[in-house]
Amino acid sequence: MKKGFVQNSNYARFLQAVKAVELRGAREASLMLVTGPAGLGKSETVDRFAVDTNAVYLRAKETWTKRGLLVEMADTLRIQTNTTNHDMQARIIGAVGARQTPIIIDEAEFTVRSSASILECVRDISDLTETLVVLVGMETMETRIARYPQISSRIAQVVHFQALTEQDVQLACKQLAEVDIDADLVRELHRQSEGKMRLVMNGIATIERVAKANSLVRAAADAFKGLELCIEWQARRPRAGATR
Ligand SMILES: Nc1ncnc2c1ncn2[C@@H]1O[C@H](COP(=O)(O)OP(=O)(O)O)[C@@H](O)[C@H]1O
Ligand SMILES: [Mg+2]
Repeated sequence: MKKGFVQNSNYARFLQAVKAVELRGAREASLMLVTGPAGLGKSETVDRFAVDTNAVYLRAKETWTKRGLLVEMADTLRIQTNTTNHDMQARIIGAVGARQTPIIIDEAEFTVRSSASILECVRDISDLTETLVVLVGMETMETRIARYPQISSRIAQVVHFQALTEQDVQLACKQLAEVDIDADLVRELHRQSEGKMRLVMNGIATIERVAKANSLVRAAADAFKGLELCIEWQARRPRAGATR
């Protein structure tokens, strides 16, 4: 399989939302949420955006405290961390303000648990620097944040990642697969993957493997009848009745 980022419909929707935040009226409303089930490509999309914009990119941990957030942010910005939270936050605000790049927090559901103190810290940094903050997480993140009006009132855009369209799957096959995949097999991959990018990638790898083993120049649905294309590793085993 080739490497590369596929500019699918979720990516287009994400960029549109970024543009809308940039054009927002209220300067302080600079939070953006990106939510959706696992495997749709949220992390990969924001990672691509982070590289393109030189953003501060953090992945929240289950054990994060306000200090944990500040230390990781400071490390990323090469700011010294052997100081008080207050001082570190002031230095971070100075650095982010000068740099004017977005802040992205993946797995952000971990930042809203029993209190919103971590997000309040992020909000303060974003308010004072007027930079975009992208919070990425599962759908539960949105309901958790809704409990804190001081945070939710700052949200300018919410992007719900959706199942990929057949056209998205076709684009991925064309860009990433090292074998030509016929439209009927693309359709089957779209069905079996349920539009999840993670499973589309698995499916492309399976198709390449089978095509190579059978010296196929093109991969068409006929040659793959009854075959499980995608392995859901989280489910730990393929669906019953699959042959390989
Ligand atoms: N647009 C894309 N182009 C190429 N690969 C992608 C794309 N989106 C997702 N992937 C790949 O699909 C898998 C799942 O994506 P990920 O971003 O981890 O999903 P999520 O964060 O929504 O759970 C990863 O292996 C990732 O590299
Ligand atoms: Mg992710």
